[in-house]
Formats: sequence, C-alpha cells, structure tokens
Amino acid sequence: MLSAVVLISGTGSNLRALLEAASVADYPVRIVAVGADREAEGLAHAEAFGVPTFVVPWRGKEERAAWGDELLHQLEVWNPDIVVLSGLMKLLPPAVVARFSPRIINTHPAYLPEFPGAHGVRDALAAGVTQTGASVIVVDDGVDAGPILAQRRVPVLPGDDEATLHERIKPVERELLIDVVRRIATGEIDLAAPAHP
Ligand code: GAR
Repeated sequence: MLSAVVLISGTGSNLRALLEAASVADYPVRIVAVGADREAEGLAHAEAFGVPTFVVPWRGKEERAAWGDELLHQLEVWNPDIVVLSGLMKLLPPAVVARFSPRIINTHPAYLPEFPGAHGVRDALAAGVTQTGASVIVVDDGVDAGPILAQRRVPVLPGDDEATLHERIKPVERELLIDVVRRIATGEIDLAAPAHP
C-alpha cells in the first residue's frame, strides 16, 4: 500500500476524487494526511473521509524558506511514500523538493510544457489556442518543468471563459491523477526514471 500526503490551496475537487478512489478496497493507495497553505475549502473533503489535515499558513514570499521548513516538518511527521500537489498554488521551496524529489507529483490544467505557472487555463485562453489539456508531472526545482507522467488534450470551445474551460479540464485531471497514483503504487511508473507517456 502506497501512502500519500496531498497538498491543496483551494476547493479540492481533484482531492475529493482521489479520496473517493482511495476509499475503494482494491485501490493500492492510502491518503494519510491532507495539507494546505491556508484554511482551504477543500480540507473539508479530507475531514469527511476521516483523513487528518494540517495547515502551514503562507506568510508571503519573504517567509518562503521558513514556510518550507514548517511544511517539511509536517511532511516528515507523515513520512509518505509520495506527495501529491493537487491545486497547491505555491512553489515548493527547494528544501522540500530536495527531501522528497522525485516522489512529488503535481497536476496541472494545461498540456505541459504549454502554459506552465499559476494561470494555465487563463493563459491558454489568452493565447487563442483551440485545444489545451491536463498534465500530471514530477515536481522538480523548475516551474511545472519536471518529467511528464500523463497528459491529455481538452478542446477549447467557442464562448469558453476561464471557469467553463477549467471545469472541462478538471475531470480529465482527475482521471489522469487517479490513474498515475495507482500506477506509481503498482510499480508501473518509476518516478526515478519515468518513461515519456
Ligand atoms: C486544478 O485544476 C489544478 O490543476 C490547479 O488548480 C486546480 C485545483 O482545483 N493547479 C494549478 O494550476 C497549479 N499550477 P481543485 O482545488 O478543485 O482540485
């Protein structure tokens, strides 16, 4: 059984899907804790599933290193096999990446390397592309630049705004994330040497 800590910042809809998947007996992953950088709405999903939560409040960029130390401490308490970033809207400090890499994965609402960063959906719309996508990657020291584990295209439809497009991307993210985490647990994906999908 693979243990995972999931980190979020927002509504946690992808987290919820992962919690639901992990509650099925033959899914080989146990979510041991859910953490956030603020009192995120999505923490309620963890509570509903009886999963412990923690918050390491973000206090601004000048406090990034101290925040990272505190986050690292929390992660070490749970000592998970993998860390899943599921909508964590902060860059992980290098100390956290160094401690857990390559056992940290991130879900992103664009077809990387297209549109990395905090506004993947908005940037795709602004670029006027007809398709964007969803990706699950290994986190390294770059910004959404780590090895790609899985990705799929999602069309941009006429009349889409950021909210409608994001809501069409998220179900794809969920499927990819649940599948990637399962394949890490079964050994089908080797995070130390990922094959390009
Ligand atoms: C997801 O679309 C995730 O990919 C994105 O935040 C959303 C969280 O939604 N993350 C990023 O953009 C990170 N760069 P959720 O809180 O409803 O799961």
